[in-house]
Amino acid sequence: MRTTRRHLLSVLSAATAALGLNGRASAATKTPSAAEGPFYPRPSMRHADTDNDLVRLAGGATQAGGEVVYLQGRVFNAAGAPQPGLRIEIWQCDVNGRYSHPGDRQRNLRDTGFQGFGHHITDASGRYRFRTIKPVPYPGRTPHIHVKVLRGESLLLTTQFYLKDHPANDRDPLYRRLTPQQASALSMDFDEGGTVSEARVNLIV
Ligand SMILES: [Fe+2]
Repeated sequence: MRTTRRHLLSVLSAATAALGLNGRASAATKTPSAAEGPFYPRPSMRHADTDNDLVRLAGGATQAGGEVVYLQGRVFNAAGAPQPGLRIEIWQCDVNGRYSHPGDRQRNLRDTGFQGFGHHITDASGRYRFRTIKPVPYPGRTPHIHVKVLRGESLLLTTQFYLKDHPANDRDPLYRRLTPQQASALSMDFDEGGTVSEARVNLIV
């Protein structure tokens, strides 16, 4: 019931965005972009498994540490039309704050059960879905998930998602540059009501 209501609200908010704040049909504001950061995993660094479940590696014996969550949403264009067939990529640090990337020189141990990078292809209604862990902070950054959206080889968006109302957001050098509207568009508001927390973030590309 609760999830259904949240889903309805997220659809309504996407529809409202497509109409524009003044209620007239106008091009919706595109989801703000953000820096790629230094830890986007190059193809040679990725596990063979790059599916949309980052919590379990194919053939792996252990599940990733951390709080398992679902992250999902829909992708629209500025006119409000759902965008099927787009490649959504996410990457993030593990529960210990380590990226699956040789450039991450932190000393803490890497969680070898965490996939670190995954992708999904939007369905006919523009929907994507991931199972991953709730992001954790690492030195200098508030918790975040990196996101890319591609159409074929063409990059449409690089951005970062944040935890709504996390106390470290206001000290984060990238988050602080966002307007309240931009921060809202990039915020994951996890519904803690179910057995697995879930957040919906719709994108406009
Ligand atoms: Fe990062």
